[in-house]
Amino acid sequence: MDLYEYQAKEMFAAYGVPTQSGIVAVDPAAARCAAEDIGGTVVVKAQVKTSGRGKAGGVKLAADPVEAQAHAEAILGLDIKGHIVRKVLITGASDIAEEYYVSFLLDRANRNFLAMASVEGGMDIEEVAETKPEALAKVAIDPIDGVDRAKADEIVAIAKFPTDVADQVAEVLVSLWATFVGEDASLVEVNPLVKTPVGDIVALDGKVTLDDNAEFRHPLHAELTDIHATDELEVVATAKGLNYVKLQGEVGIIGNGAGLVMSTLDVVAYAGEEFGGIRPANFLDIGGGASAQVMADGLEIVLGDPEVKAVFVNVFGGITSCDAVANGIVGALRMLAERDEEPTKPLVVRLDGNNAAEGRQILDDAAHDLIEIVDTMDDAARRVAQLAAQGA
Ligand SMILES: Nc1ncnc2c1ncn2[C@@H]1O[C@H](COP(=O)(O)OP(=O)(O)OP(=O)(O)O)[C@@H](O)[C@H]1O
Ligand SMILES: [Mg+2]
Repeated sequence: MDLYEYQAKEMFAAYGVPTQSGIVAVDPAAARCAAEDIGGTVVVKAQVKTSGRGKAGGVKLAADPVEAQAHAEAILGLDIKGHIVRKVLITGASDIAEEYYVSFLLDRANRNFLAMASVEGGMDIEEVAETKPEALAKVAIDPIDGVDRAKADEIVAIAKFPTDVADQVAEVLVSLWATFVGEDASLVEVNPLVKTPVGDIVALDGKVTLDDNAEFRHPLHAELTDIHATDELEVVATAKGLNYVKLQGEVGIIGNGAGLVMSTLDVVAYAGEEFGGIRPANFLDIGGGASAQVMADGLEIVLGDPEVKAVFVNVFGGITSCDAVANGIVGALRMLAERDEEPTKPLVVRLDGNNAAEGRQILDDAAHDLIEIVDTMDDAARRVAQLAAQGA
């Protein structure tokens, strides 16, 4: 889960990283009140879980509350890379002498953690990383040793921070690492970490990604979830214990096993090219033991996506046998019909593996208008792409 800047900064503050406090506002009037409370020049900042807010017009200085209100008016509702701004953070404007960059992240390629730091931080850090890689120090962090003061000093030295801020930056790094470990994050980033004209070091921005697999260790993290930032169907799927990810396409996908579902996405995307770029609409792994209820839950979610024009159920029977899956499909369609949610979108079903013949027989016997059985994965992908194109 990614956090909003204001949440990230609250977390940083709890671990001793110097930040500015701010006030979150959801409408322009509240932004004005917040600016009055804070006093002086403030910054109005879009709260969206994506980068490049400043360049998209989502970060603006306001000399007084009236201007803060006007900026909030302009920023709220803004679409930044597909994220609609629903909240702004009002915070005091800081005088800036220099902008730095620091982060800790999971380095998957090297199966390690990594510190990154640069004295050329700010909104162009991506460009710096690209065109001047030597200006972005990268230091491997041993997961057992972590970041103590000595390691922090080493990062500061490698990144060539000026001596007048070296101590403060090293302290920030130690606190930031404590946040990273203490909250089970996979990313903590500060850009910019600024030096003020009087020589103070302050985190003006914050990014945190939490490791969802560690959720059970952090009951308080649940409060950080923002339903608005999550797809509605994903929320329903999570509540039902399903592994569902919404994608931008027309073919609903249901399969058993993450590997099979992943390759189903690939074959559908490939087959869809022939039909004007038909694409998978979601990832949904019903896992082992697909009972009628699990199938019904899965179908309900996939059919609930208005973008979906046809559904591909791709099952390889193993521990879950295909007859159980077939009964699940038939039962699911009946359950939906009984609830007056009669499905209307075609279902292409491919069953293979354990008890495939029995499974197909059950579907044949059910003789449901919407169900079409196709024997191979490639043929089924082609057929479902064709049906989706017809329905689109
Ligand atoms: N409190 C502040 N006072 C003065 N200037 C600020 C303040 N907050 C941000 N800025 C300026 O605005 C720039 C952009 O702000 P910020 O880093 O928060 O957004 P961003 O970098 O565009 O967003 P992202 O990091 O998500 O891409 C900063 O580099 C800094 O120059
Ligand atoms: Mg930033």
